[in-house]
This record gives sequence, C-alpha cells and structure tokens, in this order.
Amino acid sequence: MTEQDNELRTGSGSGRDGDSTSPRVRLRDRDAELRSVETAVDKLCCEFAAGGTEIGELLAFSGRPGIGKTSLLHEVRRVAKLRDRATVLFARGGERQFNEPYHVLRQLLQPLLTSLEPDEFRQVMGTWEEVVGPAMGLKRPKAGARRLDPQGVRDGLDYVLTQLAPRRAPLVMIVDDLHWGDHESLSWLTQFAVRSRELPVLLVFAFREDENDWPTEIQQHRKAVLGLATSKHELNRLSLVSVTDMIRAELGDKAEDAFCYEFWNVVNGNPFEAVALLDQVRDQDLEPVEENSQQLRELAVDATGMTLKSWIDRLGSGTLRFAWACAMLGTDIRVDLATRICAQTTEGARDAIKQLRKQRVLTQTPNGNLEFVHPLIGSSIYNTMPEATRTGMHGVAAAEIENAGLGLLAASRHLVETFSGEGDDKTVRKLRRAAVEHLLIGAPEAAQRCLHRALNEPPADDIRAEVLYELGCSALLTDPVATVNQLKLALDPDEGPLRPELRVDATFRLSEVLAHSGELRQAAVVCQDEAEQTADPVGRLRLQAASFMWHAFRKSEDDGPGRSTRLGLMCDGLSTRDAADRAVLAMRAWDLTLRGAPSAEALTYADSVLDAGRLPKGLGWTNSTWGFELPSMLGLTYTYNDRIAQAERLFADAIIQFEVAGWSGAHRGFAYFLMGLARFRRGLLAEAEDFLRRALRLSERIGPKLPLAWDAVGVLVDTLLARGRTEEAWELAVKFGFHPPYHATAMVLPDAPSLYGKLLIAKKRYAGAAAALTEAGAQLEARGWHNTVWAPWAGHLAIAIAADEPDRAREYAHKAVHDARTFGTASAIGTALRLNAQIEDGQQAVELLEQAVMYLGQSPAGYEHAVALVDLGAALRRVGRLEDAQEYLYQGIELAQHCSAEGLVEQARRELANYGLRPNRLGLRDFRETLSQPEWEVANLAVQGVPPQRIADELGVHLSLVNRRLAAVYRKAGSGPDGLASALGLPTQPRGATRPGAEPEEE
Ligand SMILES: Nc1ncnc2c1ncn2[C@@H]1O[C@H](COP(=O)(O)OP(=O)(O)OP(=O)(O)O)[C@@H](O)[C@H]1O
Ligand SMILES: [Mg+2]
Repeated sequence: MTEQDNELRTGSGSGRDGDSTSPRVRLRDRDAELRSVETAVDKLCCEFAAGGTEIGELLAFSGRPGIGKTSLLHEVRRVAKLRDRATVLFARGGERQFNEPYHVLRQLLQPLLTSLEPDEFRQVMGTWEEVVGPAMGLKRPKAGARRLDPQGVRDGLDYVLTQLAPRRAPLVMIVDDLHWGDHESLSWLTQFAVRSRELPVLLVFAFREDENDWPTEIQQHRKAVLGLATSKHELNRLSLVSVTDMIRAELGDKAEDAFCYEFWNVVNGNPFEAVALLDQVRDQDLEPVEENSQQLRELAVDATGMTLKSWIDRLGSGTLRFAWACAMLGTDIRVDLATRICAQTTEGARDAIKQLRKQRVLTQTPNGNLEFVHPLIGSSIYNTMPEATRTGMHGVAAAEIENAGLGLLAASRHLVETFSGEGDDKTVRKLRRAAVEHLLIGAPEAAQRCLHRALNEPPADDIRAEVLYELGCSALLTDPVATVNQLKLALDPDEGPLRPELRVDATFRLSEVLAHSGELRQAAVVCQDEAEQTADPVGRLRLQAASFMWHAFRKSEDDGPGRSTRLGLMCDGLSTRDAADRAVLAMRAWDLTLRGAPSAEALTYADSVLDAGRLPKGLGWTNSTWGFELPSMLGLTYTYNDRIAQAERLFADAIIQFEVAGWSGAHRGFAYFLMGLARFRRGLLAEAEDFLRRALRLSERIGPKLPLAWDAVGVLVDTLLARGRTEEAWELAVKFGFHPPYHATAMVLPDAPSLYGKLLIAKKRYAGAAAALTEAGAQLEARGWHNTVWAPWAGHLAIAIAADEPDRAREYAHKAVHDARTFGTASAIGTALRLNAQIEDGQQAVELLEQAVMYLGQSPAGYEHAVALVDLGAALRRVGRLEDAQEYLYQGIELAQHCSAEGLVEQARRELANYGLRPNRLGLRDFRETLSQPEWEVANLAVQGVPPQRIADELGVHLSLVNRRLAAVYRKAGSGPDGLASALGLPTQPRGATRPGAEPEEE
C-alpha cells in the first residue's frame, strides 16, 4: 500500500476539502445526531468485519443556512477516521461551481483513484476507462473520441464503485452542500444511493432545507435522497442554554442572563449567526450586560447583514475588489488568479489578503490557496457585486483561467456569465469549442449552456444555423424533444444558411430522433423531402437510404412492394463498395428477408456488406453517419436466415462498443434486445429472457413506452410463451398494448398482430386469434412481406380455424409451407411443417413432423427443434408406435431442458406419464457417442495415466483447455479418472483406445 493510500484510509485527505483549515468546534445540542452517526459508522465497520457486504446506509442531514451541517459533517469524518479500516471520502458542492460538471464527484473520487497502482487502476476501471477517466478529469479524451452519454458515465461510475468498494471497504462517502452539487454529480449520486445498499458503503449527505427557489431538479434530487435515507435529521436551532454557554465561554461568566436571552433571540438559535455576533460583540468591546442588549440587533445586521455598504466600510474598496475576485472563483482559490482577475499588484494582493484574514473573511488552506471562512460570507460578497462589474470580471476570469493553462472547460463556467450582445466571433468560437469538450466528458447540459450563450452573443449570420445544429446534436443522447426542436430550427432557412453537408446530417439526425420517438412516418418524410433538394449524390443517397429504412420499420405503409422495387433498382445501380453503397445493400438484405425472398439472395447481399465477417469502416455500431440501425438490419438478416452465430458476433460487438463509448441509453438497450432476439431464435431461452429484460429496464429508464420497449416486450412475450409461462406472457403483452389497435407506431420485431394471435391460441381463444391473424395476414400480404418466421401468421391462422373450417385451414397451412420453402431456411421450413402437422391427424401428422424434425435438426433453432421432437413423439404415440414415441419424447425433453423451455419439458413428461411410459430415461444414451474428437484424444491419454500437463504438451494446447475437455469427459462418462477406462469400455490403461465401432489395433 502506498503512503498516499494510507492517508486515504485514515482519511486525512488532501486538505482541499477545507477540513484541516477548520478548527474543531464544540458541538452543542447535537447529541442525537452524533449518536446516530456513531451507530451507523460502528454498524458499518462491525458488519463489514463480520463478512457482511450488503450493508449500505444513507444518513441525511438538513437544515437552514448556518445551522451547523458542515460542523456536524466534520465530526462524522473524525469519527469515521478513528475506525481502523474505513476509507473516508469527502466532497462538497460549491455555489459558484454549481455549473461545473462533475465538480463534486471529482473531489470525492479523484484522490482515491489517483492513489491506485496502475494495475489496480486498470482492474477498477474495467472497460470504462475511456468513459470514467475523462469525466473524472483523470485523463484527456482520446483523439477522435466521441461524445459520451452521461448515462454511460453513470454506469461506468457504478462499475468503478462496485470494484472500489470491496477493495477499500468499508467506505464512508460524505457530501456536504448537496444543494449546490452539479447536475452531473447529483444525477449519479442519487442513482448510486439506491445501489449503495448492496455495498459496504455509508453515504452521508448534508443540504440546506429552506430554500424553495432551488431549481426543480435539485428539489427532485433532494426528495429522492430523503426517500432513500435510512436515517434523516433536520438540525434544530440551538437552545437558550447552549447559546448562553457559548457566550459565557467567550466573554466570561459576567454575561448577564438578560443579555444572553436577547442574544439568543436575535440570532434565533442559529450557530453561524451566534458566532458572527459574538465576534462583533468582542470587536466592539460591548459589555454583556442587560442595558447593552438593545444594541445587539443593530450589531447583528453588521455581523450578518453584509450589504455592499457594510462590506466597503469594513474592507475598503480595493480589498473588496480582491474579495470579489475570490468570490468569483468560489473555493480552493488560487492567489495568482484572484490577483490578476482584480488587476492588483502582488503587493496590493498581499495587503488585501492580510486584511481579509483579519476580518475573518478568508482563510488560507495548507496548499497555499484561499478559502472563505464560511460559504455564507462568500455568497454575501459575491451578491454585493454590481451586475456590470460581475459580468466584466467573469470575462476577465475566463481569460485568466485559460491563460493559466487550466483549459476551456474550466474557463467556460465564467464565459457563460459574461456580457452578451457583443457579437464577438472569438467568444463564439471559444464557447463552441467548450461545448465540444463538455460533450467529450459526458456533460451535454453544460455543452448546451455554452451553445445557448453563443447564440446570445450572437454569432455571425452565416454561422447561426450551424450553432443551432450543434445545439441540436448536443442533446441527441439525452433530450429527444429539444433535439427535434433545435434541429428543425437549424434547418429553417429563416435562421440563416446551413452548409449542405450539415443540412444532410441535421436531417438524418432529426429523422433518427423522430424514429426513436415513434414518429417513423415523419422521419421517412423528412429524409425524402430533403433528399429531393440535395444536390450532392452521396448526401442524397444517405437521405434516400434513411427514408427507405424508416419506412421499413413502420407498422404499415402504402406502397411496400413499390418501395422494395425501388430499393432493388438502387442496388442494381451501385458500382462502388463505399459505406453508403454498403448501407443500401444492408437495407436490401433486410428487405428481402422480410419479403421472404430466397434466403441465399439476402445472405449474398449481407455478406457483401461485411469485410471478413466484420462490419466495414464507416458502418460501425457507433458510426454517426449511418447510425446503429444499419448494422442492426444486417444482424437481423443473419438472425432470420439461420446464421445466428454471425448475428451474435455482431451484437456482441455492439454491446462492447456501446459500453466502451459510454452509450448507455437506448443504444445499449437495443444491443441487448438484439442479442436477446438472437438467443431466442437459437433456443437459449433463459439467456434471451435475461437480455430482453435488461433491454426493457434500460428503455424504461429513458422514458415510458419507447419503441425499444415495444421490441423488447414483443420478443420477451414470445420467449415466455416458449418457456410455458403463458399467463405471464399474456399480462406483459396486455400491459404494453400488444393487442388491437396495437399502440406502437413502430413495427420492428416481432409482428404484433401475429404475436397476439399466437398468444390467443395459447389461451385457446381461437375466434379472437383468427380475427387478429387474418388482419395480420391482410396487411402483410399487401405489403409483400411473406417471411413465415418473422410473422408466422398463416401457420397459426390454420390452427385457429382448423376446427370450424378445415379446408381453409389447410390452404393457410400449405401457403405457409410454400412461403417457407421459397424462403428456404431449414428453420422456416421445419416450423411451417410442424404447424401444418398440428391440423392433421394420424400418419399424415407423423410424416409432416418427421420432415419438420429433419429440417429443424439442421437449423440453429434449438427450441423449434425441441417442439417438433415432442410433437412427433405425441403423434407417434397416437398412431400406436409407443417405442418410437418414447425415444422422440426423451430427445425432446433433453433439448427442451437445454433450452430452458420448462413448459415443453412438462408437456413431454405428461405425454409420457399419461400413457404409462417412463417420464425419464433409465439409462442415458451411450455417452461415447457424445464425445467429440478432441475429448476422445484427452480421454485416451488420461486412461493411460498421462498427467494433464503432459497431455497438454503432447497435444500442443493450453493446460486449461485440457482440463476443460477432461471435465467434459468425466461429466459425460459419469465417472472420475478411476472408472474412466471401464466407462469407456477399455481394459485398464492400454495404449490407443479408439472410438467405439472402430477396431482397436491390438484386437
Ligand atoms: N452545534 C453547534 N454548536 C456550536 N457551534 C456550532 C454548532 N454548529 C455550528 N456551529 C458554528 O456555527 C458555524 C456555522 O456552522 P456550519 O458551517 O456548520 O453551518 P452550515 O449549516 O453548514 O451552514 P451552510 O448552510 O451555510 O453550509 C460554524 O462555524 C460553527 O462554528
Ligand atoms: Mg455548510
């Protein structure tokens, strides 16, 4: 452990938090609060020592200004530091740093993070280094880095804390003046407060209670924190006895009761005011006797009233100017900066500081910087600045901070407070650059403040629209409504000209936000209209492609076949293989898939987009020219064309890339959704459910009922049905409006009416199912979409009407098989045949199911295969072939178990039990059939007594791989090393065991 580490553990900190500058105060009337603190700290330390981990608590202290919150927190820190192993972290909000992104969190975490050894630092950061690092001011964003999603930063911080907590536990995290916390820090702290219960972390927050004019956001955070607090205390005024005690401790016992009583009344039991008034009484040599009590009220005005006049009287104008400069800087004030901001000489500054210390306005911190003795004094001085002086001095502060090499980020807080209306190009440029820097640390709100200020400057006419465009883009990941409004303004010719390439980009982004808010038609139209006015062919293609894409995602459209033909023609005309062309090809691949065109065609298009199985440059998941929708369409194409492994590789990339980029909102949600869908198609239902639920959670975190939620719920309902949880599926579907008239405007996956029909069949409500599926069919046929996997309406409609209209049912079932054969994937044909079998009896059903099993056995659709096996078993039982029935049912059960399709397992077991068959195999299949060639190799050597390391050397593979293969062999053999030879049917330790069936050489 490093020395600094030790310091942190004992909590002595860097001194910048002001702790070491404050003398210890004897706290009066705070026994209950202190007891609560001691209890919480003891509990944390004891429970942690006893092995507890989920022991987090939150203490909240609130009260009026000056009531003693900070003093109490000093005690908390002292108490916590006395505990051996507790790591104490401290930060406080600053009235002037209110708008400085991550101001609180940087104070809280930087000292601890910078104290980690490089290796530990990497472990703690995981994949989040490029997200959390820049936000916490630990490193500059990488060259070419993208904007960070603030939700990503918060998720990254969650990860980091989860890593840090066990390493430095128990952790006591103290935040004072939470009401002045910057938006970015507060958003995380309130989110973390929920999670901290699962960690060995004690959170202690203090904030002012009485200010009703805090922005709503602060009020909300305060409410949230209070709601989560395990213990809350509102600090009361001090009692008459305590104040009398304070007076007598300072002035001696001669202080008369009547004087003390009046004193207590005047300060209303407020300790800050009491201390200030005592100072005044002492300075004025006022005798603490009854007849002087009348003067106390007047003195109190001087002590705490703090008007401009009272400060000038007290300090003189030169010194006050220096104090103003300090007030502007807020906390941890650098003397050189303050000196330059008020344009004083070093000499003058020195005098001013001397005077300000004497007047108990400023105090010096151990690192040589200055600090206000109390934030109330800082506020009071700042508030006495005439407006013109204040804005002017902020301008100087911005310049001086930049000159001092502290960067635009630090300067921008002042820049936004400067005069506007000057039309200064340089200021506009700086504000725009600062906005970019804010986006790179995940602070879009701060970026927007800069850009709004730039608009007020105002910028030159010819760049006004560009600033509006930047403003719109700055809210892309966080505020869809603002983005739409600002981008529309940027595109409005009345706001001035926008460069053509920016017009294309603004339109594309506008359409993305519209689409993800469910306005797909508008998204498509916006792109189409702009495309018609775009001269540049590349830009035009981009917009046309986007328009196609949004149409494709709509629930319905007027001219589906026409659009598809036009898209086909566009593809024919493509000559190059740059990103734009490939984007169109990807779209075509998905379009063909939905149309149910021969699978090979769609796959040819899809493969021509990829470079050696990976996304090409310019079409990546985080690429902003094309958006993530294009790779999504490619992945969907692979998912529905039985190339699920390829799809999963793409989706896994998406998850990682969004994580690394810190795009934690809808993007990551979509990646989870897509992965969930792929897992569902593959039949890994438990994993599918997990991914889909995560997608749903992320979506609900952003807003209610977004298209993402609709997608996730759709596939989740299907997954639950497959797992046999019909009621749960039904309730979820109803809750999210998966019933006529199908609330969502977006249609992605799966087709809502088809799914609803399937659900109704599961609930044996055939008439309703028939109506829903007929509607689905009519719409999809008109649109020219015949894919039976994506929308299996026809096969299900056949089942719904089979009892009443057997002939029509057959027509639909045959149509589905026909369409599936046209599409041509094994999973599509197999499933269509299985559905067809459901409306047939006897030998015909058996034959259809035998074919279905054959096809599905060649597909990656594991769950579909399991269903067909069980159905075949049941059909065989019905025709009296019990032995065959039993075999297929066993196979079905094994596969269904592998898929976590509990409902199907149950169904197959019932089928067996009801007909007097055993619900489980007695023995297992000859396990030797199940060993792979590599497993045979290691088994062979193991029975000869070759130790694993030598097996590894002999086979030239890693030891861990040998161990894994051996473990698989033992598991399959149902035996450890001793019984392996006999399980393999070999005499003990002969050389050269071979696969069963092959003649061993010696024999
Ligand atoms: N319980 C107490 N007994 C005696 N003196 C106290 C007590 N609490 C605070 N004080 C004195 O009052 C002064 C103001 O207290 P403190 O700074 O803790 O108030 P605060 O509630 O944090 O104010 P703010 O809302 O402005 O942050 C302190 O400097 C300290 O000397
Ligand atoms: Mg305080």
